[in-house]
Amino acid sequence: MQIIRTIAKLRTALEGQASIAFVPTMGNLHAGHIHLVELAKQHAECIVISIFVNPLQFGPNEDLANYPRTLDADCEKLKATGAQIVFIPEVKEIYPDFDGVSLGQTMLITSPPIANMLCGAARPGHFDGVATVVMKLFNIVMPQVAVFGKKDFQQLFIIRELVRQFNLPIHIIAGETVREDSGLAMSSRNGYLTANQKSEASLLQQCLKNIVHHIQHDDTDFMGLSQSASQILTNQGWQVDYVSVRNALTLEAASTEDQCMVVLAAAKLGNTRLIDNIDFFR
Ligand code: PAF
Repeated sequence: MQIIRTIAKLRTALEGQASIAFVPTMGNLHAGHIHLVELAKQHAECIVISIFVNPLQFGPNEDLANYPRTLDADCEKLKATGAQIVFIPEVKEIYPDFDGVSLGQTMLITSPPIANMLCGAARPGHFDGVATVVMKLFNIVMPQVAVFGKKDFQQLFIIRELVRQFNLPIHIIAGETVREDSGLAMSSRNGYLTANQKSEASLLQQCLKNIVHHIQHDDTDFMGLSQSASQILTNQGWQVDYVSVRNALTLEAASTEDQCMVVLAAAKLGNTRLIDNIDFFR
């Protein structure tokens, strides 16, 4: 497995590759990421994984400085998958005009209005940062296939929009969320949880499952179901950003006509913001 740090060297290494599948990550890899790499292997001969903690997708009071960086362990895990290339650029390589504080002349992608709701409402500019780095990474790697996890459902939606609206010749594959035995969705941020919080954290998925159960048994009071789930979490000390039932294809608020749905939530347990979702058919 080659570890490559510059765009020029990556381009040279990728010359002549017949098929490339790409898995962008911010590192601190867990079983969820490895599942995405395994999916990628079904679609191309050359697998490229990027590890880049993208400063543009963090708000001023978020965890950019503390975001877990575990490069050696990440590379060991990736080597075991048989992946060919890990791309680990410095910030300057990706954003030459960014000095760590000011963006300078850095050009950003403006996400569509759907990016301002759900997670975007609590994290203004987050999806502009995601769309910008993903566009840059796509242009650098030029894969035929890219794999993203469904755990970040709104991110996956926005990346599909990026591909559609900028006519990118890239097939986006969605990987299922990998969970702990407790049901907690795997996430790099789970490492911030104390042992007690980790056992409490499965409540988020239980609340979502409960909503899905009700809807699949013909309850169409989407607002009421979301509010009760939100109340249960709040009563247990969570700070809820949202619990919402949406059309899984458009991310608009669900209507009683919808068949393909998703229930999504984001809430803070202590200082850790967790997100989760379940997509389902009615
Ligand atoms: O999901 C992530 O890890 C990041 O948002 C991504 C897609 C790698 C962009 O920085």
